[in-house]
Amino acid sequence: MSTTFQLDTATSRANPTPAPMKRLTVPRIKQRKVDGVTAEPLVMLTAYTARQAQLLDPHCDMLLVGDSLGQVIYGLPSTLPVTLDMMIAHGAAVVRGSYHSLVVVDMPFGSYEASPQQAFASASRIMAETGAAAVKLEGGVAMAETVAFLSARGIPVMGHVGLTPQAVNALGGYMARGRSEAEEAKIIADGKAVAEAGAFALVIEGVVEDIAIALTGAVAVPTIGIGASAQCDGQVLVTEDMLGMFERVPRFVKRYNDIAQVISQTAETYSADVRSRSFPTADQVYPAK
Ligand code: KIV
Repeated sequence: MSTTFQLDTATSRANPTPAPMKRLTVPRIKQRKVDGVTAEPLVMLTAYTARQAQLLDPHCDMLLVGDSLGQVIYGLPSTLPVTLDMMIAHGAAVVRGSYHSLVVVDMPFGSYEASPQQAFASASRIMAETGAAAVKLEGGVAMAETVAFLSARGIPVMGHVGLTPQAVNALGGYMARGRSEAEEAKIIADGKAVAEAGAFALVIEGVVEDIAIALTGAVAVPTIGIGASAQCDGQVLVTEDMLGMFERVPRFVKRYNDIAQVISQTAETYSADVRSRSFPTADQVYPAK
């Protein structure tokens, strides 16, 4: 059954029909992994706008307002120029557009690495100004103290290890991680450190599959894979990648549609209609009384 929306002009809230389930909470997400097993994998997709959130929400457990919006929405060359204000604006839109999924907002580069106190100041702004229930930050052992600091102060943190795009300059590119024994050991140590510090879930991105499987077995919290393994406790993709918005298709992406083609063909039809004066028709203009 599809969801329809009725705009409540008093609150500017678009109310869905049928009424959605209650919003998922951090404890409920965490509890999906019992004794190392997640019977039903967790579904997460990125969302950056209210309408996108409305459409994805009924099908997801979590919506991630990823800093990938830098490239996907703003055409930036990497996630590094993304600001806290950008994340807050998009985070608030996604919270407004969703009712059921847990909304997680990425902490952008430079907003949390200096100290736990800096991270708290940024994360508390995200939580207060968006209404999201959790933040995500990249990094392992070096970020464990910060994860513990935030978690102890009521800010649920999702970790992110393996290929961490904010570290692209240090890593030298976006290639898969964990091809040497040293890198493998580091990824496992990073994931364990963040999970033991109190993260409620852990994104594992762009790693050799065996590492994702081993790390999923080594931590008590759910792992969410992207370019990792079907044996992770859940999966995430950038929605535009999943929809087929871009020509470039990284190995870990499955294109479920060809939305770029749909948009391009539709724009072509519209432009032909405008140029031939076949749009607007009598149906789209206001007749005289
Ligand atoms: O920014 C993002 O979209 C992400 C996901 C790819 C995990 O961090």
